[in-house]
Amino acid sequence: MLLLLLAACDTTPEPVETEVEGCVPFESAYTANAAPIIQAKCGSCHGSSPEFGAPHSLVEGYEDLLSGEVGERKVDAMLASLLDGSMPQGEGELSHNELDTLVGWASCGLEHPPEDEGLFANRDIWEAPDSPPEGSVGVDLLAVDESVGLDAIDDYRTFRFKSVVEESGYIHRIEPVIDESRVLHHITLTRKGGFPYLYAWAPGTGAIQFPDGGIAVEPGDAFDVEIHYNNGAGIPDAVDNSGVRLWVGESADIVYGMASPNLWNMVIPAGEGKAFSTTCTATQDFEILAGMPHMHEIGSTFKHDLVRADGSVENLIELSGWSFESQYFYEMPIQVQAGDKLEMTCGYFNDTDETVTAGLATSDEMCFDFLVVTPASAESQCQ
Ligand code: HEC
Repeated sequence: MLLLLLAACDTTPEPVETEVEGCVPFESAYTANAAPIIQAKCGSCHGSSPEFGAPHSLVEGYEDLLSGEVGERKVDAMLASLLDGSMPQGEGELSHNELDTLVGWASCGLEHPPEDEGLFANRDIWEAPDSPPEGSVGVDLLAVDESVGLDAIDDYRTFRFKSVVEESGYIHRIEPVIDESRVLHHITLTRKGGFPYLYAWAPGTGAIQFPDGGIAVEPGDAFDVEIHYNNGAGIPDAVDNSGVRLWVGESADIVYGMASPNLWNMVIPAGEGKAFSTTCTATQDFEILAGMPHMHEIGSTFKHDLVRADGSVENLIELSGWSFESQYFYEMPIQVQAGDKLEMTCGYFNDTDETVTAGLATSDEMCFDFLVVTPASAESQCQ
């Protein structure tokens, strides 16, 4: 992951290898999903009479995109240009979901666009060992034979799990369970109601694991798994059993909690870029291990600093090129003392036609840093 982030600095796109040569994308999904996006986002140059130096038309229909030798079809060139980021040119950017839909269609669901495009973070992603700690058992929170139809485009579904354990214990590790990857866009795990975030997955994300301990889970604790489906490929009869696996043990040497510094007063008028800050003062000593910044679709930059009582500033994390699809926990180990201030700033650029304010919907905005802290009592800090 770190390599990917560093590679993002290099502006020349690397050629992308695909294993999907020769797949025959679905005609029904072309009409329903792909054609409208191609028309809107590629048609200005690749129209019936190509303009501005574009070598060919992409709007002559399904047969035209698929005719010719495998590897030399227009659809093959299209997929390659989308995966390496060389297309589209000009003003008409694709939203991540449009990109996922086109790539999904052209690759029969076998490829996903890169998630980290443009993301810069000054911290490493928090990585887990390959296998769960001994003595813990897997508890699956999965969709069960969830039918993901042809109309599942940008489709969020929430699955609630009540009472996932019979006795008090500790979650030591959280890992993704991926089933029908062709229609899966991303997965999040929160406690009931959407907070705090405990885990987020997108293609390429690994597990997280709490060192020598975990977060407490009680019988009766409920969790929400939200799965974002996108059947851009138009896979008929897609059925999914994805979700997350919690590795739960009876004891923990170190008990962690999840603190959630947040702010809710953002108002971002259409067409404007704005940043909002909040500061809170720690009322106890605690340690931060890792944190997951969280904004929604028009988030762009994120910064979290620790201002010591003597006025000196230590940075916890700084991000730019935020995208809703690339949410990770980052390593940010630091000891906080009572009296220190946590100063968090979220920056947005509103490229929609409407004013955006705080709220729960994906089209509303948020500003959170979900922090893994110890002792667990520190989870009440900065609420
Ligand atoms: C603003 C104009 C413009 C837009 C919009 C545009 N293209 Fe292009 N496209 C070009 C030009 C110019 C070239 C030829 C030069 C080049 O390859 O960079 C090209 C080349 C291509 C090629 C051929 C690459 C090759 O190696 O043969 C493909 C495939 C392609 N575009 C796909 C797309 C797709 C898919 C979209 C929409 C998502 C799109 N383009 C949007 C201007 C555009």
